Amino acid sequence: MSLDPRSFRKALGSFASGVTVITAIDPRVDLPVGVTVSAFSSLSLDPPLVLFCLGQTGSCVSAIEAAGRFAVNILADDQRDLSARFAGPVEDRWRDLAWEALPGGAPALPGALTVLGCTVTRTVPGGDHLIFIGEVETIRSREGARPLIYHGGAYLDLP
Ligand SMILES: Cc1cc2nc3c(=O)[nH]c(=O)nc-3n(C[C@H](O)[C@H](O)[C@H](O)COP(=O)(O)O)c2cc1C
Repeated sequence: MSLDPRSFRKALGSFASGVTVITAIDPRVDLPVGVTVSAFSSLSLDPPLVLFCLGQTGSCVSAIEAAGRFAVNILADDQRDLSARFAGPVEDRWRDLAWEALPGGAPALPGALTVLGCTVTRTVPGGDHLIFIGEVETIRSREGARPLIYHGGAYLDLP
């Protein structure tokens, strides 16, 4: 059965999610890369694994593969600008942005709700996307902030 792509996207958009920016340092050029990703999930508690899904042709795929590590920056409600920035033109993503290196090097974005420092344990092809599985090694948290929520193609205003 062939699905209508618009109906498929709409159906998937009914699932509310948080928003992350996946970051890494591209070791081939020693520059940061990052991309907005909502397809993030916890995977395992022991060992502590998470996963995210990235389009196969995405600008960050080869950099994350070469780095072998990444950071998951879980965005706070007041970071819609960062979500849009890291889904926009690659050349603007890091402009005038102060970031800190986690142990191991992956960039932590200022103001993120939680930052997970991970090493890549596996990549698995999934249709036109790649599933990156990572083991979490470091955790940073910002107290008191609320999460950014994405639903139906828009950010949800929390009451
Ligand atoms: C809220 C939001 C969630 C997104 N989630 C994903 C995602 O889970 N996986 C993905 O590959 N792209 C996702 N995108 C699109 C990417 O951020 C990006 O624009 C696209 O993948 C192209 O990547 P590139 O510009 O790095 O090549 C999302 C964009 C937005 C605004």
